[in-house]
Amino acid sequence: MSQCRFNSYHFKNGKQAQNRVVVPPMASKTADENGFVTDLSRQHYQRLAEVKAGIVFVEYSFIHTSGKGEANQMGVNDDRQILGLATLATIIQSKGSLAGLQLVHVGGKTTTEITGSDLMGPSAIVVPVKDRPLETPVAMTKEQIQQWIEWFVQAAHRAHKAGFDFIELHAAHGYGINQWLSPITNQRQDEYGLNIQGRSRLLFDIVKQIKIERPSLLVAVRLPAQDHCDGGLEVHEMSWVVKELENLGVDLIDVSSGIGGWRRQDGRSTEGYLVSDAAVLKQSTSLPVIGVGGIETGQFIDQIICENKVDFAAVGRAILKGPSEWAQAQMSR
Ligand SMILES: Cc1cc2nc3c(=O)[nH]c(=O)nc-3n(C[C@H](O)[C@H](O)[C@H](O)COP(=O)(O)O)c2cc1C
Repeated sequence: MSQCRFNSYHFKNGKQAQNRVVVPPMASKTADENGFVTDLSRQHYQRLAEVKAGIVFVEYSFIHTSGKGEANQMGVNDDRQILGLATLATIIQSKGSLAGLQLVHVGGKTTTEITGSDLMGPSAIVVPVKDRPLETPVAMTKEQIQQWIEWFVQAAHRAHKAGFDFIELHAAHGYGINQWLSPITNQRQDEYGLNIQGRSRLLFDIVKQIKIERPSLLVAVRLPAQDHCDGGLEVHEMSWVVKELENLGVDLIDVSSGIGGWRRQDGRSTEGYLVSDAAVLKQSTSLPVIGVGGIETGQFIDQIICENKVDFAAVGRAILKGPSEWAQAQMSR
């Protein structure tokens, strides 16, 4: 088996990932109470940068306070945050990695105590999560849909001004855009609901507008291949979504899971427990695809890249435990 993990990758805009390892977005809860980057955030990303990965994604960052998920979450909702975010992009890029920033509106997967306002969602349906009861969101009006698009676009401008190579739209793990995609939480009867064409309209509108306003910014979308939840999104629907995203000019597809959450699902005990989902979506697109889920070893990464199941492998917790140690053990030639 050749060492495919070390292959570089050239994106359409000429930017190059130095290898096929991705540090996925992982909330560090190091921001201040208004979502501003702190010294702790810088130390955290300095550690992660030591991996010298192909791409390092900075954690889910709220695009508006109504879409904030937890205390000390990073924010990209205010121009004054650009300076702090720029220091993170520089830290990551100083090791040769491409820097990405994940943008999120968590929709109904939060509390009104954190947002200070009504929860927003496609329908007045509680997001079903396993570990806690959530409040009922208020179904968004057409004006509020336009607001969401504008918030995402403004956040993308800020990320680009901060020097990030990528933004990643968070459309997985039961958060805002996932709630729009899923038939469990989106039961609208207008053009933003009814079927997968309608349920994906908001995601497509956001992508279109970002691509019009920031054509040189690379856009990744983190999405589920399926919700992993009864009555949820199915693979054939998401295969269609991925094809459309390619037509709209998206640059990278990052496949995780849906309303069921990112953790290991029943019966998936192997290294790379979501890689098979990514491999299925890869068959519908010529875009590069990231696979994730319990990946720990360079050998496994070589295997899935060489076999063309995915183009990139994201390694989360194994890197978080000890970035330098992981790199030493798995990324030395
Ligand atoms: C502490 C922690 C925070 C996370 N935060 C995010 C996040 O901000 N955005 C996201 O899309 N996924 C998040 N995840 C999920 C990871 O990106 C990844 O998909 C998951 O950990 C599975 O990969 P692993 O088995 O290699 O850890 C988080 C995971 C952990 C452990």
